[in-house]
Amino acid sequence: MAESTRSVPPNSPAPPSTTTSWRAGLFLSAVITVLISLLLVHLDTFDAAPYSSDELAKRPISVLPRVNPRVLHGSEKIGEGQLKGPEDIVFDPKLGVMYTSCGDGWIKRVTLNDSVVENWVNTGGRPLGLALGYSGEVYVADAFKGILKLTEDGEIEALTDEAEGIKFGTTDAVTVAKNGVLYFTDASWKYDLHDFALDILEGRPYGRLMTYDPSTKQTKVIARDLYYANGVEMSPEQDFVVFCETPMMRCRRYYIHGEKEGSTDVFIDRLPGMPDNIHYDGEGHYWIGIAAEHTHEWDLARKYPYIRKLLAFLEKYLKRPSVEKNAGGVAVDLNGNPIARYYDRDLKSVTSVIKIREHLYLGNLVKSFIIRLNLTQYPATAPSSTMI
Ligand SMILES: *[C@@H]1O[C@H](CO)[C@@H](O)[C@H](O)[C@H]1NC(C)=O
Ligand SMILES: *[C@@H]1O[C@H](CO)[C@@H](O)[C@H](O)[C@H]1NC(C)=O
Repeated sequence: MAESTRSVPPNSPAPPSTTTSWRAGLFLSAVITVLISLLLVHLDTFDAAPYSSDELAKRPISVLPRVNPRVLHGSEKIGEGQLKGPEDIVFDPKLGVMYTSCGDGWIKRVTLNDSVVENWVNTGGRPLGLALGYSGEVYVADAFKGILKLTEDGEIEALTDEAEGIKFGTTDAVTVAKNGVLYFTDASWKYDLHDFALDILEGRPYGRLMTYDPSTKQTKVIARDLYYANGVEMSPEQDFVVFCETPMMRCRRYYIHGEKEGSTDVFIDRLPGMPDNIHYDGEGHYWIGIAAEHTHEWDLARKYPYIRKLLAFLEKYLKRPSVEKNAGGVAVDLNGNPIARYYDRDLKSVTSVIKIREHLYLGNLVKSFIIRLNLTQYPATAPSSTMI
């Protein structure tokens, strides 16, 4: 008989008292968890710095005259399964091969015509930025090993890994002038590649732009206090180098010759995301890899150091929340005017974009292939005509 008094009509909610206490318990444990986490975050020694207010004022993002928002549509996978996190790509027209820097230490060669992949040289580190020399040699910015020269027959020569008594923390990118002088970046002397997110979250400028002169074997710092100094590229006239500062969503210009020699100015800012490598295509455009899209959340985090401290805590003890999307690349003219953007909702950590003839090639940290897009077939168009 007791059964019948407890029976309830089908689909009726559970007795209110049980639900309430269950909810209260859940709420209480959530509050306790949050309080303990905040205490732990508070006690953590990570010290995020405020970004300067005039840096923060420079929004919103530049308007891109032409876009292709669906790069993955119609793209092909090059070297699938054989290229682990191909970060940077350079093309050697003489051999008809691309060089790409992979996460397993390999610099691989990929033939342009039939996409055959060859293990060329393993640096034993994590090669990032690449530059093709003028006599068939390849220069490598290896995150852990510094600046390396790979001779045409694949021998490794270590060139430099410190300046002014400070070892490079994350050697990031390199370009070479016609006179043989290398220009390269150390993204952060404080953090190594594994901790790059902490550098960006801390918000202090630990990056440096440097030169290495092979005739004197000297390394010189030419610009310091840079925010995660990333990609670097020589101008076609050899009068300046452009270098990117990832968390500032901008690239700056360092003048090598002329009236402005030794000074820097902004080349392009208000990019639609965080820039990585930059490459000149020989046809009037620089191509900048955009690793992560600009978000309002990141604007907030830049404004409030405490948010970045919280994110750093997650980064160190848990896992980075995966929020990156709409990665891709931006084409910029010789004066730093944005021309076109190529991206995709489902792309993240795009680190390099290069254009070879009618194709765009995208390097990235998360896939095991290079993405190739036929620009004739899938061009960027004026935004109004691509609205879906
Ligand atoms: C592709 O290019 C490589 C290197 O330039 C050459 O050795 C090979 O014969 C070419 N293959 C085809 C199918 O054209
Ligand atoms: C790229 O696309 C165009 C237009 O569809 C086509 O004519 C061309 O052959 C393609 N290029 C390559 C190399 O596949």
